[in-house]
Amino acid sequence: MRILGKLVVLLVGTLLSVTAGEEQKCGSLDERLLFNTETSTEPAEYPWMGILYQLMGASFENTGCSVVILAKFYVLTTASCVRRFNNRPETAAVRLGIWNETHTSDEEYICNVKGFCVPGPVQHSVSEIIVHPQADKDTGDNDLALLRLTEQIKWSTYMQPLCLEPISPLKSLIGRNFHFGGFEHSNYIKGKGLAFTLTREYCTSLSSASKPRPENQFCGYPVKRTKFYEGAALMGLNIANEVPKSFYLVGLLSEVVIVGQTTVLGFQDVGPWRSWLLENTRS
Ligand SMILES: *[C@@H]1O[C@H](CO)[C@@H](O)[C@H](O)[C@H]1NC(C)=O
Repeated sequence: MRILGKLVVLLVGTLLSVTAGEEQKCGSLDERLLFNTETSTEPAEYPWMGILYQLMGASFENTGCSVVILAKFYVLTTASCVRRFNNRPETAAVRLGIWNETHTSDEEYICNVKGFCVPGPVQHSVSEIIVHPQADKDTGDNDLALLRLTEQIKWSTYMQPLCLEPISPLKSLIGRNFHFGGFEHSNYIKGKGLAFTLTREYCTSLSSASKPRPENQFCGYPVKRTKFYEGAALMGLNIANEVPKSFYLVGLLSEVVIVGQTTVLGFQDVGPWRSWLLENTRS
């Protein structure tokens, strides 16, 4: 009887640890990397950033859009980035766990001349494209789309989700410094930056076009003018007991606005749509 009891305890314990093991921690953060002045990430930094590809003829081509891992079957990008697929998910793919854009997914490990090695990226096919129901092609409002992957992501140091929820929500996003990360047009390595948030009205005033910036969008003034791909994640810090614990999603880069010598970044605010994102990434 006692042996049986022990067996049951052992079994339950194993089951619990298996379930716990499936829950992937989100928003992994290394305080050491928070305020360095690098413009490139380390391979395991911001492991939720990937790249969107489109089938052109016989091969998948880089679309110049980033994706953000939110859950084991889901990545987020902008609605403008997925219009090119005409709702044909089979023509879309994402590469995750990618650090150097020139690396292809057929390689298990890739080493540079210094003998520094990283695993090759993992390509995932897409089974469904879920454009935000209120996304508006003409105004650019609500520029969000989720991609459901055919196979679930195998979590690793290089592939992890970004947290969706803040521990304590900010009353306002304006007048703050936020980190952002993603891929860019002038460098093959996954990049990072800092942006100071400005009002939508200020950004509208920069441009001579009378068209207002999209609704639910705010602006970021980047420290460096690097042109990032759309879909870069703007991130807030979850702080618990005076310690930065994790990153969470604040906004998604929807447009790089270049006016003369000034570059500002238009970010889609995810705040109003967190419950939409949570509901649609559950399964
Ligand atoms: C990125 O990959 C290319 C080609 O494989 C290589 O020439 C380059 O050195 C790599 N960059 C880094 C920083 O490893």
